[in-house]
Amino acid sequence: MRASFFVACAVTAGALTGCRGETSRESPIIPIRNMYNQPKFSMQHESAFFPDHRTMRAPPEGVVSREEEWDETIATGRLDDDSGYVLTIPEQVVEQAGGMESLVKRGQDRFGIYCTPCHDRTGSGDGMAVRHGMMKPPTFHQDRLRHAPDGQIFATISNGVRNMPEYGPQIPVRDRWAIVSYVRALQISQAPLAAETKQ
Ligand code: HEC
Repeated sequence: MRASFFVACAVTAGALTGCRGETSRESPIIPIRNMYNQPKFSMQHESAFFPDHRTMRAPPEGVVSREEEWDETIATGRLDDDSGYVLTIPEQVVEQAGGMESLVKRGQDRFGIYCTPCHDRTGSGDGMAVRHGMMKPPTFHQDRLRHAPDGQIFATISNGVRNMPEYGPQIPVRDRWAIVSYVRALQISQAPLAAETKQ
């Protein structure tokens, strides 16, 4: 019984996979047609249904996406008049995150996901990707980056910089600010003590 079952399986499998990879003029055999052919429009198709003949509908004029950040300063890290970067994380972002502590916590979590592959957990720039040949990023623990405005770190994450790719499309705005707060926490953790610095 068992043997004949295996033989049957082998024969069926052979029959189903035997012609794979070969070209054929016949249309494909689809035993269960279910939703194979669907009455639908594909992207950029023409349609007689709408007066403008477009299947892809443009959003009504003036519509704003719910996800979009409409506060320019929060969305870009730039001052209202675009004259420079904001020095500190906007208050509203901190408040909405439930305070600085939870913002930093969230930032630590997101930093671990998005930044450690290159910048490593301490921010010194010795992540796994770097060990496998990616360009070594600068350490966060240098005066130039310690003194960079929060908005500039935010913009670096959003738009990338030189050889660093942009993370704006992947990381939501509030999470990017959270990461900025964690980069600051990292920098403070390794800041030289006042006694060590030459005055
Ligand atoms: C794929 C690797 C990679 C990832 C992931 C990455 N970075 Fe970078 N980062 C770089 C490289 C490379 C540079 C140096 C770019 C250059 O100078 O060409 C850099 C530079 C920087 C700088 C310094 C910019 C300057 O002004 O010199 C900051 C700040 C920074 N990254 C923050 C982050 C943060 C925060 C994240 C996580 C959201 C992140 N990076 C994710 C590769 C990465």
